[in-house]
Amino acid sequence: MEVVVKGTYEEMSCLAAQVVAGIVCRKPRAVLGLATGSTPLGTYKELIRMHKVEKLDFSQVVTFNLDEYVGLPEDNDQSYHYFMRENFFKHINVVRANIHIPDGNAEDLEEACAMYEIEIEEFGGIDVQILGIGSNGHIAFNEPGSSLGSRTRIKTLDERTRRDNARFFKSIAEVPKYCVTMGIGTILEARKIILLANGAGKAEAIKAAIEGPISASVPASAVQLHPDVLVIVDKAAAARLEREYPSEPHRLVR
Ligand code: GLP
Repeated sequence: MEVVVKGTYEEMSCLAAQVVAGIVCRKPRAVLGLATGSTPLGTYKELIRMHKVEKLDFSQVVTFNLDEYVGLPEDNDQSYHYFMRENFFKHINVVRANIHIPDGNAEDLEEACAMYEIEIEEFGGIDVQILGIGSNGHIAFNEPGSSLGSRTRIKTLDERTRRDNARFFKSIAEVPKYCVTMGIGTILEARKIILLANGAGKAEAIKAAIEGPISASVPASAVQLHPDVLVIVDKAAAARLEREYPSEPHRLVR
C-alpha cells in the first residue's frame, strides 16, 4: 500500500487525476470505477480541465459507479445519477452507453445487483477504482460490519452515514434508508485502487483504515489486502497517522 500525504485538497485531487489520466492515455478503453461524495469532486474538476485543455479523451472509456440510493428518482438532485451527470459526465466526452450506475429504482433490485456484477465482468473488470471514505470507515455504502467478501447488493444505511449525508437533504427524514452498493469483494477486484480523504473529519477513519487491523468494523481497512493501492490524503486527514509518509508517489503515472 502506497500512502502519499499532500499539503492541500487541490494537490491531492491533481495527483489522483494524473494517475487516472495516465491510465486512460495508455488504455483508451479503460474501465473506471467512480465514487460520489465531496471528496472526488476536485479530481473530477481536474479531469474535466485535462479534457478541455489537454484533450484527454474519454470517448472509449467505460465507467462503473460504486453505489446509489434506493428509491430516489434519477433526476432527484441528491441521486448519484444526478451527481455524476452534473459534476463529471456532462463536461467530458464519455459515451452515455458506457456509463453504469447501480439502479436504485429497479423493480427487482436483487437481480439488478447480480446483473451489475456480470456487466463489470463483461467489460473485463475495473482498471482503477476511485474511493472516498465515510467518517465511520465505510467505502461505497459498505457500512461497518459488511463482509469483506461482499458483492453488489442492497444495504441498510448506517445512522451515522444518514446523519453525515443529511446535510445535502432538507432534513434527515428525507435521506433514504436503503442503498445499492458494490461489495467490498467487488471493489477489491479492481486492478488498482485510489483511496482519497481530506479534512480533519476523516483523520480517525484514515488512521483505522491504513494503520489499524483489517476488520469488517472498518470496511476501508480491506484495501490493505489489495496489491496495488494508492492512498492520497491531505494534511488534515493525515493528522492521526503515526508512521511517516512521503508527499510524492514512487512513480508518478502508472
Ligand atoms: C458517501 C458515499 C461514499 C463516499 C462517502 C464519503 O456516503 N456513498 O462513496 O466515499 O460517503 O463522502 P464525502 O466524500 O462527501 O465525505
